[in-house]
Parts: sequence; C-alpha cells; structure tokens
Amino acid sequence: AFENDAIIVVLGASGDLAKKKTYPALFNLFSLGLLPKETHIIGYARTKMDVATFHEKISAYLKGTDTEEGKANKEGFLKICDYISGQYDEDASFQNLNQAMERIEAKTKVGSPSRLFYMALPPNVFTVVAKGLKNNCYSQKGQNRIVIEKPFGKDLESSREMMGKLKDLWKEDETFRIDHYLGKEMVKNLLIMRFANPLLEAGLTNELVDNVQITFKEPFGTEGRGGYFDEFGIIRDIQQNHLSQVLSILAMERPKSFSSEDIRDEKVKVLKFVPPIKEEDVLIGQYTAANGKPGYKDDDTVPKDSNCPTFAALTLWVNSPRWKGVPFILKAGKALDEAKVEIRIQYKDVTKGIFKDIPRNELVIRIQPNEAVYLKMNAKKPGLDTNTLPADLDLTYKERFSEVRIPEAYEALILDALNGDHSNFVRDDELDVSWAIFTPILHAIDAGKVKNETYEYGSRGPASLNDFIAKYGYKRSNDS
Ligand code: BG6
Repeated sequence: AFENDAIIVVLGASGDLAKKKTYPALFNLFSLGLLPKETHIIGYARTKMDVATFHEKISAYLKGTDTEEGKANKEGFLKICDYISGQYDEDASFQNLNQAMERIEAKTKVGSPSRLFYMALPPNVFTVVAKGLKNNCYSQKGQNRIVIEKPFGKDLESSREMMGKLKDLWKEDETFRIDHYLGKEMVKNLLIMRFANPLLEAGLTNELVDNVQITFKEPFGTEGRGGYFDEFGIIRDIQQNHLSQVLSILAMERPKSFSSEDIRDEKVKVLKFVPPIKEEDVLIGQYTAANGKPGYKDDDTVPKDSNCPTFAALTLWVNSPRWKGVPFILKAGKALDEAKVEIRIQYKDVTKGIFKDIPRNELVIRIQPNEAVYLKMNAKKPGLDTNTLPADLDLTYKERFSEVRIPEAYEALILDALNGDHSNFVRDDELDVSWAIFTPILHAIDAGKVKNETYEYGSRGPASLNDFIAKYGYKRSNDS
C-alpha cells in the first residue's frame, strides 16, 4: 500500500472527468485525512496554463468549501496540486513530468515513493500514454500503478487488442480498470446483503424468482457529447460495463473468500453461463424532441441517419444451475422521466390457491438516488379485517443511517487503488466474457439490422417497453 507517500498524476487533468469526478474525489479524501500523509498530485494535460489558472478551474467543482473548515481544506488541497502541460505522444514531455516527480521525491522524507497514474483520457490516447509513462515515468524505487477508465474497446476484438497492448507494458497487478459502479455504496453492499443474510440468499434462485430487472434511468440526454456518444451508444455506455457488473455480483455463487481474486473468479464464472444476447431479446430506442428539449438527432454532431440507441432493454439468460430460466432484463436510457438506478427482483406467484390476485413479493435494491433496500410483501390489513395489504420491509439509508456520509464512488475506488486492492476493479478476463455476451448484438445494431423505436424526451421510454417486460413474466403491481 501507498502508506506514507504518493504521487498521483492525473492525466487529462483539464478534461471533464478530471474536473467533475477525479479532483472532487481526491479533495474529499484529502479533507477526510484519508490520503497518504505525503501526497502530491500533478495534473497533466496538453492545455498550457499556469498553476493558478488550473487551481481556479478545479476549485469550481470542489464541494463544501464555504465553511471555515472547508476553506482551510481547500487551501491545503490546492497546495499539493501542481499542473504540468505536455504532449501525450512525446518522450520529452514525459521526461519533464518525470523530473517534476523526482524533485518532489527528493524532498519527501518517508518511505519509498510510489506513483499512481490516473488516466482520465479519451480512448484514442490510452495506449500511447501508457507507453510514454512506462518508458519515462516508471519509478525504479517504489511501486507504480496505472488507473484506466472505459471505454475498453468497442467490442471483443478491439478490447482484446487494446488490453493486449497495455499488458505488454503494465502488469495486471499494476493495472486498475475502473468501472465506477463498483465503487457505489449499494453495489458494494450486494455482497454483504447476499452472503451475510441466509434468509435473503436462500430466496435468490430460480425456484422462487420469476424475473430480475436492473434499471438505469437518466433524465437528461446527450447534449454536448452527442458526437462522442454516437460512436458507442447506450449499450456500450451502460449495459456492457455498469449493469453487467451489477448482474455478475447479483448472480454469482459465494466466493471462497472476499479476496479480490476469489470474488472476480466467481464473477467470471457466472458470466460464462450467459450466452450472447439474441435479437429477439432486445428493444432499442432513440429519443425525439419533446417538452421543450431537443431530440438526439437535433445535436449537430450526430449524423442525421444515426441508428445509435439512447435506450435499450436487453434480456440476458444466466444458465447456471441457480438461475436457469430466470430472465435478467437490463434496461438503460437517457432523456427519460427520472433519475434512478435499481435492481428489482420479482418473486413467483407461490401463494395462488390460498390467495387470489395478491401482489408478488419484490426485493428492490435502489442504487441511486436515495439508497435503499426494501422488500415488498403482503401483510394482514390491520384491524378487524382479514384481507391482505401490500407493505414494505424498508431499509432506506437516509432514515436508518442518517448520521453516515455515503462516499462518492470515485472516492472509494481511488482509495482502493492507493491500497492496492483490486476487488472493485475489472479484471481482463471479466472484460472478455462480458464483451462476448454483447458483441454480436452490438454488431447487428451497428449494421442497422435492429431498428430503434422512438420515444419522447422525458418519457418512460419506447411505447412497447411494457409489453417487452411483460413478455418475460414481469407483473406490474400498483405502486411500482
Ligand atoms: C458513465 C456514462 O459511465 O456513467 C455516462 O458514460 C453516465 O453516460 C454515467 O451518465 C452515469 O454515472 P452515475 O454515477 O451518475 O450514475
């Protein structure tokens, strides 16, 4: 672990991800005293600017800096944040970065210096930067780690090619592939929910579960990043990584231990039970202008004939002994009616014969916003009545754990990377099995073989969504 000192280099420091996620997360860790004692952060990007201008840029995104304490934290934080501009494909630039790190290291007193390179970069420069860093900035004295962000390729082949090139340069134990959903509190909670609660775990099988939905909804479109988005589409943006990670943790068998390798072994094992998605199990959509908001194709950077989905519902079949026959419906969409990410496990009608038409049990894990786990069940209507009444066993975090601050996903993940813990990062073989599931359908969509339905900005999605879900057995209860 980077116990006492660390140099963190944020590559792509002037970009969106760095400003909105990486620096705010580093700031929160700093404020909580969770960074190694001697930490220095160097922002690196092509844009030429002085340190003061850079500080101004990142300051705008730091939260909680109005109070006295917040102000002091911000001052302290900015003191350890430096900025260097340089090219992504030039040894001389990286040598310059290396000299800056050596100067810092010469001044620090404790331990051997360790370097963490965080690549908040577009995919077209991943490999060349990974190479420049390895050749010019690799510390011979301390530990070196590299953190990379999706997209990891566009399909199985391109992902393998990219990962292959990275592997030639950086060892697997030095590489941290971020899927920030793995840093979310409720995703991390899944392991505990399942394996610390025999009661819940016993019911997670095809004997009792009828269908599972994993849903991602965002109330805004791709405004401003349509050109980028059009190359990937919602399935590569959300399902192939974030939702498939959630699925693998929800569906996997109990790992031998909670070590990162044991956990990831089980995730890979269960994904291997999932065959490639079939065209008949897919519904895709693209949003149109409505409610005063622009349609996807109104963005000048999006081609007018784009068949890129901004919504998709995909049904995956996990053919493991535990789950065979249970559909896992992965839904994701932009420009919908609300912001919500949740897992909804719907149980079978096993009460038929005794009761008529009572709602099914459902176990819901709400990942965001307003983290919660609740079980929809049936109770006797209170009073002199023998009818049933739907009720919830409700674990809403802000009520139950109101005094606890829930950390941002990136805080948890940066801390893990500094500690050398790979549990919440994506292993290369995980990527492979996941791409194998998604690649054929992605190619079919890219080739225009599957067509989008339209849906209005701000709606629940394509009109046929309800029928699509009902086809897999989902029964809507009144309040879901
Ligand atoms: C990113 C996607 O990976 O996740 C974005 O590229 C999406 O399109 C984002 O908006 C959602 O993350 P979160 O943490 O806000 O749910």
